[in-house]
Amino acid sequence: MAILIDGKATSFAMKEELKVKIEAFEKENGFAPGLSVIIVGDDPASAVYVRNKENACAAVGIKSTTYRLPGDTAEEELLALIRRLNADVSVHGILVQLPLPKQICEETVLATISPNKDVDAFHAQNVGHIMIGNYHFLPCTPAGVMALLDRYDISVEGKHCVVIGRSNIVGKPQAMLLLEKNGTVTICHSRTKNLADITRQADILVAAVGRANFVTADMVKEGATVIDVGINRLPDGTLCGDVAFNEVEKKAYAITPVPGGVGPMTVTMLLYNTLTAAKESLK
Ligand code: GUN
Repeated sequence: MAILIDGKATSFAMKEELKVKIEAFEKENGFAPGLSVIIVGDDPASAVYVRNKENACAAVGIKSTTYRLPGDTAEEELLALIRRLNADVSVHGILVQLPLPKQICEETVLATISPNKDVDAFHAQNVGHIMIGNYHFLPCTPAGVMALLDRYDISVEGKHCVVIGRSNIVGKPQAMLLLEKNGTVTICHSRTKNLADITRQADILVAAVGRANFVTADMVKEGATVIDVGINRLPDGTLCGDVAFNEVEKKAYAITPVPGGVGPMTVTMLLYNTLTAAKESLK
């Protein structure tokens, strides 16, 4: 049986550690780190994610404010709010929940957030910092994956790491972080030929596809570490990942469950980025 990589417990432990750091920060500087979260529209999944972020902030001592804008908000109105928050010294981190309604250009929005407050690390300037390995903010989900590997003593160095998915949020930055830890990285995607031949070579396999139970046991090498970034909802309402957990777990050395794997870590890394942003604001 594989080692179960427990993201819930790891995230709880990391939040306890962070709470102590934030208490010390507030004592020294007289203010708490502040995060502003903006959600546009009423996408139910986004609403849950935002509520999780609010609760997590409250649990560690970050002062969070959520702006809930209607789904028909004009782009300029959203940009004006972001500019106002950019200029507000009590706001250290700004997060605009994605996806956005179609009348709003995501690229313009992300480019408007001050790079110093971009706790998602989605601004092109921060993406560039990640590429050259000189960064303040790490993208939350890939950073959560790296923290899990670290906490479970799973070394990346020299390993063949295969990432399935090439999104800006997960696949691409994940590949960069694995590379930085001296992994040999392959990025696979929807046009990859002979996908299973490649995934079967993976010592560390990261699935960020967005398709339920996509990674089956025949695609996994015996003894591999399998990290499941997917959160998919089945027709009966249950959550499942991109990995067919029950069959893959029999072959893997270690595996993350869904829920309770990477998901809770994403929020925890956001909280760490917010403290980093507050510290940077003092410089
Ligand atoms: N939507 C899905 N994941 C994310 C994330 O990590 N950050 C933001 N802002 N929106 C998301």
